[in-house]
Amino acid sequence: MGLIRLVYASESRLVEANRHSEIDRIIESARRLNTIHDITGFLLSTESAFAQVLEGESSTVAETYGRIVADPRHGAIRLLAEHPIDQRSFPQWSMGLAERNETTSFIFGLYGVTPENDLPQQPADVLIDLAGELSRQRA
Ligand SMILES: Cc1cc2nc3c(=O)[nH]c(=O)nc-3n(C[C@H](O)[C@H](O)[C@H](O)COP(=O)(O)O)c2cc1C
Repeated sequence: MGLIRLVYASESRLVEANRHSEIDRIIESARRLNTIHDITGFLLSTESAFAQVLEGESSTVAETYGRIVADPRHGAIRLLAEHPIDQRSFPQWSMGLAERNETTSFIFGLYGVTPENDLPQQPADVLIDLAGELSRQRA
């Protein structure tokens, strides 16, 4: 037992025409389920990829990650980090969301995340720092 933080990245399988509405559906069910399971975190989304930070009790994070991995809306999932933590980095987020768009692409770029070097190419600590920066912009 104990708190852990898990970070993964994946390739989006969403079709561009439906991408925003699908992401809205994903975040809605993520927030509903994460509230029940006391999971917090942040989801980063670009045109072709996802990265997500999940925080909570190790058993519930493992169970949630198992469901996420099986979701056909993404693939080529890479587990980047899974570590015990003393406290949460996203305590107020049942699941935060930042999409790369005209407004946020500058910040993604500051952390080295570009279309050529997208979320799955990044180390976990860069993704956690980027998510933290974007969560502060939204708080
Ligand atoms: C990129 C992505 C992120 C997701 N994040 C979560 C999450 O944080 N928590 C969760 O319970 N489900 C998450 N899901 C959804 C699960 O994979 C799964 O679809 C959901 O738990 C099924 O519930 P529903 O059928 O009621 O929507 C995510 C799915 C995708 C594709």
